[in-house]
Formats: sequence, C-alpha cells, structure tokens
Amino acid sequence: MEASRRRVAAAAAATLLPLFFLAFATVSGTDRFTVGDSKGWNPGVNYTEWEKKHRPFHVGDWLVFYYQSGLADVVQVDEVAYNKCDASSPISNYSKGRSYAFQLNHTKRYYFICSYGYCYQGMKLAIKAEPLPPPSPPPSHKPSAALSLVPRSAAVSAVVTLAVSAALLRFL
Ligand SMILES: *[C@@H]1O[C@H](CO)[C@@H](O)[C@H](O)[C@H]1NC(C)=O
Ligand SMILES: *[C@@H]1O[C@H](CO)[C@@H](O)[C@H](O)[C@H]1NC(C)=O
Ligand SMILES: *[C@@H]1O[C@H](CO)[C@@H](O)[C@H](O)[C@H]1NC(C)=O
Repeated sequence: MEASRRRVAAAAAATLLPLFFLAFATVSGTDRFTVGDSKGWNPGVNYTEWEKKHRPFHVGDWLVFYYQSGLADVVQVDEVAYNKCDASSPISNYSKGRSYAFQLNHTKRYYFICSYGYCYQGMKLAIKAEPLPPPSPPPSHKPSAALSLVPRSAAVSAVVTLAVSAALLRFL
C-alpha cells in the first residue's frame, strides 16, 4: 500500500513537472521579430503593413533588422523626425555589419528610419511596445494569436490525459 502510494506520487510529480515548465515558458517568453520578414530592412517594403501584420509587440521583444552593408542603416528617431524622414538628430543609429538586434525595453512608441533617402518611399517603422500580457490572457480574437495557442493547449491536454490514465491504471 505504502509503495503504491509512493509510486502514484512519483507519477504525479513526473507528469506535473513538465506542465509547470510549459506554463513558465508561456509566461516568460519574449518574441524575436525579423523586420520585413524575408525581405529584411530594404527599400520598397511597406513596414506599416509589416507592423500591422505582426502587432502586438511587447516589452522585452526583439526587432532584428537585416540590411545590405553600406546601403542602409537603422536610425532611431522621435515621432516628428519619423514623419519628416529627418535623420539629423537621431536617438541612436546603427550601420555596422549586416544586422542589428534592438530590444524594446520600454512601454512606448519606437520610430526607426533609414537615413539613405529610402525613408521617403516607406523605409520607416513605427512600433508600439505594449506591457507584457497577463499570465493567462483571455482568448484573443486575432486568428494568428489563436493559432499559436493551438499547439500549446494540445500539449497541455496530452500531458493531462497521460496523468489521468496513469492514475487510473494504478487504481484499477
Ligand atoms: C550616427 O552616429 C554617429 C555618432 O555616433 C554620427 O557620427 C553619424 O553622423 C550618425 N549618423 C546618422 C545618419 O545620424
Ligand atoms: C535594453 O536593456 C538591455 C539590458 O537591460 C541593454 O543591454 C540594452 O542596451 C537595452 N537596449 C536598448 C535599445 O536600450
Ligand atoms: C503602406 O501601406 C499603407 C496601407 O496599409 C498605406 O496607407 C501607405 O500609404 C503605404 N505606404 C507606402 C509608402 O506605400
């Protein structure tokens, strides 16, 4: 009797532990976005549309800009400079190498432009970093968010099913 109870406890621990880590990973996850997706940070891409497709962005998320060395840069500016494509007084600028990873550290709006003249054709990005979502967010209406929840809930129900069947087997 004692031994079987211990076995049940061990089985419960073995099944609950992955569940705990799964939940923890969900809460602490930050996302990494490749600006422009496969098109990268280049002329001729509409970054307003890219932003619409990928929002919401959250504090802690990363933006990775991939650009052609010597042909583009990433200049962080304020809203007024963003609207005018004015790179003369940047908050920060980056042009080394072929990529730049920027972390959205604060809850605020960020503005990026390219100072090589392509900004006027739309090589500019405005992003709002929102607060981290609560641990168990309510069901979202956005299809993309709903889709990303599917594998996670499937994994959870698999673990729960396993736990229940393991417990049943012990007592039958
Ligand atoms: C970027 O910053 C450097 C100094 O940090 C400055 O010399 C350069 O002119 C800046 N470039 C732009 C496009 O603002
Ligand atoms: C964000 O914060 C990290 C560490 O707290 C720091 O290393 C990094 O430079 C910050 N990034 C920006 C864009 O301010
Ligand atoms: C980008 O697309 C938006 C619509 O999503 C449009 O209003 C805007 O004019 C476009 N920008 C450029 C530079 O074509």
